[in-house]
Amino acid sequence: MVRCDADSSRKILTEFMRIFKRETLVVPRPVCAAGPRGLRLAVRFHGTIATGSHGKPAGRSLGKMKAQHSAPIDRQDLVSFSFWLRHNLVFIATAASIMKLGLLTDIHEDLKHLQIALNRFEQQQVDQIVVLGDLVCMNEELEQTCRLLKQAGVIGVWGNHDLGLCHQPDEDVRGRYPPIVLDFMASLKPRLQIGDCHFSHVEPWLNPMDPLEINYYEGPPDEPHKLARIFNAVPARWMFAGHYHRWLLVTPERIESWSGIGRLRLHQDRCFVVIGAICDGRFAIFDTDSAELTPYNEFCPTA
Ligand SMILES: [Fe+2]
Repeated sequence: MVRCDADSSRKILTEFMRIFKRETLVVPRPVCAAGPRGLRLAVRFHGTIATGSHGKPAGRSLGKMKAQHSAPIDRQDLVSFSFWLRHNLVFIATAASIMKLGLLTDIHEDLKHLQIALNRFEQQQVDQIVVLGDLVCMNEELEQTCRLLKQAGVIGVWGNHDLGLCHQPDEDVRGRYPPIVLDFMASLKPRLQIGDCHFSHVEPWLNPMDPLEINYYEGPPDEPHKLARIFNAVPARWMFAGHYHRWLLVTPERIESWSGIGRLRLHQDRCFVVIGAICDGRFAIFDTDSAELTPYNEFCPTA
């Protein structure tokens, strides 16, 4: 019997998924799976589990695990495993994608506030940092911005200020920027989905590859049809964006009164959240397990 902490539970769940996909005949047989956070998973393995080079949930190395018992597979094992999988597949998928996400947007080369946010994310042990675009300002601190983001393993989407560097940059553009900038900007996506979370710089109904659409300056949604086009654009439960340099929480029915002060539990079926700008000292942490969004407002006047 193996009793798991959060990390181990992720490793085990990842291994289940890998083995299941590969239809390997080394089958783990779980005898108990419980815990709403997926943190206490008790399993007994038949066979040896080795992580190999499979993915790295939460950005951490998986390491190696060994089963307690090794035994040849028999039909009963296969049946019980299939039964267990059928009844727990949703649980597996959910638990494997549990993450504490650090959310950054509209950096505009503001290194001091960026560093404040990165320090906070490290202190809070976030699993993955996601940037929601607009790294660029005047190309005075862009290289260091990209270096800090790369060092922190940040993934994300591009903004309207970044488009020319991220989406099919021409030779002239490529010649004016150092490799670290070109490489990091090339790693940004038009939009990104992690589990139930959708990330885009502007509202999700706008095309991030179209310069006219991503340069959207008609302001945040303020009418019912503007709410509808956000929630009709993508099926994700939680949608996050930047661009407006303010906090905003919207449900399909209304614009909430929240202004980025105090934690939120995104318990509604669906939400659209605008994250405040790094250049105003604003950023957030979102726990995909508890649906808790923690906004930070750490503007530093001397920055
Ligand atoms: Fe923007």
